[in-house]
Amino acid sequence: MSVNSNRGEFSSKFAFIMAAAGSAIGLGNIWGFPGQTASNGGAAFVVVYLILAFILAYPALMAEYIIGRYSRSNIIGAFDKIEGGKPFRFTGYAGVICSIIILSFYSVVAGWVLSYVFHAIVKALGFTEIANWAVSQGTSTTIIFTVLFSSLTVLIVLGGVKNGIEKWSSRLMPMLIFILILLIIYVLTLDGAMEGLKHYLLPDWSKVLSPNLILSAMGQAFFSLSLGVGTMLVYGSYISKKENLASIGISVTFADIGIAFLAGLLIIPAMFVASKQGVQIYDTAGALIAGPNIVFQVLPALFNNLGNFGIFLTFVFFTLMSIASVTSSISLLEVPVSHAVDDKNMDRRKATFLFGAIILVISVIIALNVGTLLGLAVQVSTQWIEPIVGLLLCIFVGWVMNRNEIIKELKEGYPEVEQSLFIKIWPIFVKIVCPILILTVFLAQFF
Ligand code: PFF
Repeated sequence: MSVNSNRGEFSSKFAFIMAAAGSAIGLGNIWGFPGQTASNGGAAFVVVYLILAFILAYPALMAEYIIGRYSRSNIIGAFDKIEGGKPFRFTGYAGVICSIIILSFYSVVAGWVLSYVFHAIVKALGFTEIANWAVSQGTSTTIIFTVLFSSLTVLIVLGGVKNGIEKWSSRLMPMLIFILILLIIYVLTLDGAMEGLKHYLLPDWSKVLSPNLILSAMGQAFFSLSLGVGTMLVYGSYISKKENLASIGISVTFADIGIAFLAGLLIIPAMFVASKQGVQIYDTAGALIAGPNIVFQVLPALFNNLGNFGIFLTFVFFTLMSIASVTSSISLLEVPVSHAVDDKNMDRRKATFLFGAIILVISVIIALNVGTLLGLAVQVSTQWIEPIVGLLLCIFVGWVMNRNEIIKELKEGYPEVEQSLFIKIWPIFVKIVCPILILTVFLAQFF
């Protein structure tokens, strides 16, 4: 198997975990997870999510790492390099298309996040009118901030694996964790927070078997761990052969779940604090406000009530969200870029600008039709393509790839793998449990 010597490689285990956790931890954790939890029976959703993260997402994550590191290629090229891969090539194209759709809508939402950072700075300087214009989420402001966010993503990816992705993820991720913990401590001291904690941590078991809850939890698990797109696959292709893939996968899964859980500790109590201060947190149907509205409506209203300190909190919170977003968006852009560089021999700069521009055009189209296209893009990419690509990658590793080659790959960095519990259990999951579970939940949404 020929390996392109121009490909990058992460310089250490720490750098890899920061980059992979950076990809996983994003709007999905801070914007998606608490919202889904709030509207799906609180802790009942958390429990189902945790179970699915381990029995479904972790095995699928390992499938991507193995394909990536074994082939030292991207989600399309990998199928040319692995025996029996050709019929699965279309899976690679589906992944690339999915990465483009996700990044297109992600940039719009992340643009709104950036607009709040700008809002806080300008408001602190006394320009209230401009500050309010920035967060009006009208078409022009949405487009301006989407362009800004996309440019940031392109700039980092231009730097490549070591000088772009690794450098920025390693700087930004520790900062994110620090800011998140400080915010949680502060919010938990406010009046009303305990009620929120109860809603978050005491499960409403009556909802636990609802098909909707399980579908949402599966979609959330896939989206949150950046699966079924080729992101983890291509990051895996940049891991050194010295590293133990199975344990790295566990670290990334725990980091992702941990941050989602922490985000819940911040956002759900913050909603109830806001309610105590007169902010509306239930919609007209009596359900808790969920989804985008928590972050873009409830929290700003809460911060607004806190005067100057609130402006500071707005700045801190949305900076946190921006960091989470950009470490994810760079991993999404890397999917098409790595394909163009590996398989088409395209110059990295050219590929980054090309795909950056294509994605920006789609983002602008979404921004011009937010009401209809945003939800559609989310649904098509996260509820349809991601699970199906994830399913096919599990089938490929479980049924097509040569078992001895898989063991050989896992042995790199983990010589005792054959005696491990991992090798006894994981194959059953990728071969049988994951495909059946993904397919069942996927099909259930249509009935
Ligand atoms: N995992 C990211 C989040 O939780 O926000 C989103 C994401 C990134 C999804 C990369 C898919 C992907 F390939």
